[in-house]
Amino acid sequence: MPNSAPVLNWLISMAVSKPSHLPHPSAPSVSAAEARTSLLKRAARDAMDYLEGVDARPVAPTAQAIAALNALRGPLPPGPTSAEAVLHLLHEYGSPATVAKNNGRFFGFVNGGCLPMALAASWLVSAWDQNAAFFVQSPTAITLEEIALEWVRQMLGLPEGTGGAVVTGATMANFTALAAARHALLARAGWDADADGLFGAPPITVVVGEEAHASVLKALGMLGMGRKRVVRVPVDSQGRMRADALPHLDANTILCLQAGNVNSGAFDPASSIIPAARAAGAWIHVDGAFGLWAAASPEYHKWTKGFEQADSWATDGHKWPNIGYDCGIAMVREPEALRAAMSMDAAYLVQGEHREPSYYNPELSRRARGVELWAGLRSLGRSGMAEIVERTSSHARRFAAGLKAAGYEILNDVVINQVLVSFGAAEKTLATIARLQADGTCWCGGTVWQGKTAMRISVSSWATTREDVDRSLAAMLKAAAE
Ligand SMILES: Cc1ncc(COP(=O)(O)O)c(C=O)c1O
Repeated sequence: MPNSAPVLNWLISMAVSKPSHLPHPSAPSVSAAEARTSLLKRAARDAMDYLEGVDARPVAPTAQAIAALNALRGPLPPGPTSAEAVLHLLHEYGSPATVAKNNGRFFGFVNGGCLPMALAASWLVSAWDQNAAFFVQSPTAITLEEIALEWVRQMLGLPEGTGGAVVTGATMANFTALAAARHALLARAGWDADADGLFGAPPITVVVGEEAHASVLKALGMLGMGRKRVVRVPVDSQGRMRADALPHLDANTILCLQAGNVNSGAFDPASSIIPAARAAGAWIHVDGAFGLWAAASPEYHKWTKGFEQADSWATDGHKWPNIGYDCGIAMVREPEALRAAMSMDAAYLVQGEHREPSYYNPELSRRARGVELWAGLRSLGRSGMAEIVERTSSHARRFAAGLKAAGYEILNDVVINQVLVSFGAAEKTLATIARLQADGTCWCGGTVWQGKTAMRISVSSWATTREDVDRSLAAMLKAAAE
């Protein structure tokens, strides 16, 4: 095999040192392919530099790095800029002002990392530039999405025949599944919500737990069902819906349960609630943005038991499975209900014999994000997913034990990967969080849990090691002691 390195180096140096030789982006020429190759190699090298350096830098970007983003401002350029100059700006000013999520010490929100396989797949997806709307536009993307959805179904232990949609996140997954719920319930009552809207429609009652995630309420608002027009069920000390406090449920009810509270990680008691709700004819929706993935682990599966009896589920690929941003998944027991809510007609949109994503998704044109989902799940397998669930949950217990041993109060039962800690009075906890974020070893955010100000630790990244936990714990104790 000839050694291509000198040629590649020459191409890279050409791209870097002689921008004026590159063609205008709108005028492909014989050398356009070479210039593109050179640019992509440079971008790959920048990306690798970034990832290799991410462990040595503070998790939160410095104030200087954020201020330097101003270099990217300015008026719209009157004409083209060379591609390598644009890439240089991105890496020089963009990279340092990112949050270092890939070093395993970002514990904010519920943010996963990105599996190397998912990252590699996303590079390929971008090169493919597929519009994953219709099979005819991308047999590869549509086939992989279909397979990935079936794997998600199997991993989560959902009923055979369940259909789904790959969307941008759990917010849109809640929206998509609840759109199917709304459509199905009203159709049963003889009303076509899509054709006639909600004005004059038979009323639907939506029941949520006091601890329902804000995205469920947002989805209800977007669907015209009202953020505030919900019946709220009281919860217990862990944020679990109280089965004994459920209101009357009937065939005009959508009941929204939660598998994995964003703060405590707790699961609503599905087995005590769903059978009666089903018998009453209610539609049961589950927001399981991260918690549902516990189903993959023999050790943690117990928490998700009973949720498989629901009608629809929302979850995220970009949280616990570490598929990278963005990837949400809506699953619906009766795919026809999803299709009825999401279909669209136009003479040029030809229905083929395949599952056409655009008939199951809110979007028409869409990124082929099912490809990263397929690649990530293929690389993990069931045991790889179980291992992430088990390892991150054990890290969470280690955090809780270390903080407790130092005299701080753990506010939740650490059942999966979420820890809530109070460092004392609200001001002290807030000051500790601020010092920790400024220190840069790791990153945690705050919350208020049942009236008490707390710091949240969400261990969601595949990359977090025992050493990361111990380094971060030491930084937390130092921040609390100052
Ligand atoms: C329980 C729950 N539902 C929904 C969401 C929203 O997810 P996304 O940010 O992917 O839209 C989150 C986010 O953390 C969550 O924890």
